[in-house]
Amino acid sequence: MTDKGDDQNNGQNNGQNNGQNDEQSGGPKPRPGILDIKPYVGGASSVAGQSRVIKLSGNESALGASPLAIRVFEEAKARLHRYPDGGATGLRSALADHYGLHSERIVCGSGSDELLHLLTQAYVGPGDEVLYSEHGFLVYKIAALANGATPVAAPEKDNRSDVDALLAAVTPRTKILFLANPNNPTGTYLPVDELRRLQSGLPSNVLLVIDAAYAEFVRRNDYEAGIELVSSCKNVVMTRTFSKIYGLAGLRLGWAYCPAEVADVLNRIRGPFNVSEAAQQAGIAALRDSAFIEKATSHNEHWRKWLEEKITALGLDVTPSVSNFILVEFPDKDGFRAPDADKFLMERGVIIRRMEEYGFPNALRLSVGMEDENKILVEALAAFMDR
Ligand SMILES: Cc1ncc(COP(=O)(O)O)c(C=O)c1O
Repeated sequence: MTDKGDDQNNGQNNGQNNGQNDEQSGGPKPRPGILDIKPYVGGASSVAGQSRVIKLSGNESALGASPLAIRVFEEAKARLHRYPDGGATGLRSALADHYGLHSERIVCGSGSDELLHLLTQAYVGPGDEVLYSEHGFLVYKIAALANGATPVAAPEKDNRSDVDALLAAVTPRTKILFLANPNNPTGTYLPVDELRRLQSGLPSNVLLVIDAAYAEFVRRNDYEAGIELVSSCKNVVMTRTFSKIYGLAGLRLGWAYCPAEVADVLNRIRGPFNVSEAAQQAGIAALRDSAFIEKATSHNEHWRKWLEEKITALGLDVTPSVSNFILVEFPDKDGFRAPDADKFLMERGVIIRRMEEYGFPNALRLSVGMEDENKILVEALAAFMDR
């Protein structure tokens, strides 16, 4: 976890095991595995002593939220005393129209995080294995441990998921394979033919969860978010989010497209009102705000390229990204390593993300921001390298 005095850690400890106290007092004990979890810590958003900060630590929308979604959210205050539609009927139908899907095979969640956890809860138990790629999204490991399962990470090649390594790591105990495509924090992706090869190499009882949280940012002809695979395979689920390009991270809204049997399972275990009415209505509006999405993708394409070029020119190693963030490797030289850069940037009010937890002790991840934010970040990095 980061050591940034983060304000988003829900007041939890830093993964320190408190089980001993419980044992002494004979108090309630969580299930095995729970106390092995290091609580997830989101990107920091404040720096002590800095009034203006530039927050590029959470892969959030550079442009804020869709203006149409904001308007609808404001109107939703008149209905705060009512329970939401527990079936998210309007939102599922809007998603089905937008993407050409079967609405009954869509399940909505409080962020895609909730859906990743529900899938694990439903299909994985003690003694099972949850497989993912070496530098995969942290929630996969947390969800595995939360359900008493063993997390298994398959090695990557050049910061890319490796289909052969993933298939080689499958055992009779593997129940779920989580693949973030594109992956966070590397920003790399698997082309659709590789995705198909992965699915066809899996035993049919292993659920392949394609986490396409950043799909809307990708502009590559050989990329597919996973809809076709879900449509044609009984063991594939795709998860999506409104937190990234639509700018609704604070509302918590995600969805999964599933085989009918999996949707049925998720609907049995999810909370009856797991998505608020404001989130449902804002989601529908955001989906229809094509002008905002176009603006956001063009902005991202332009400024990601700009950042990659400028940062590479400083002599830093950048993993080519198709998403709205960039992984930057620092020199293995005293005073120039990632923690030094992080400290230097923080002192100037620029917050990006440490990557130790993802297996990159000498890298930082930065999100694409607004023009002035990107320029201030690059100036600060240039000053850091120039010392
Ligand atoms: C790869 C990936 N999947 C899922 C999520 C979760 O998104 P949310 O729960 O906001 O929908 C994130 C958030 O950063 C992510 O990076």
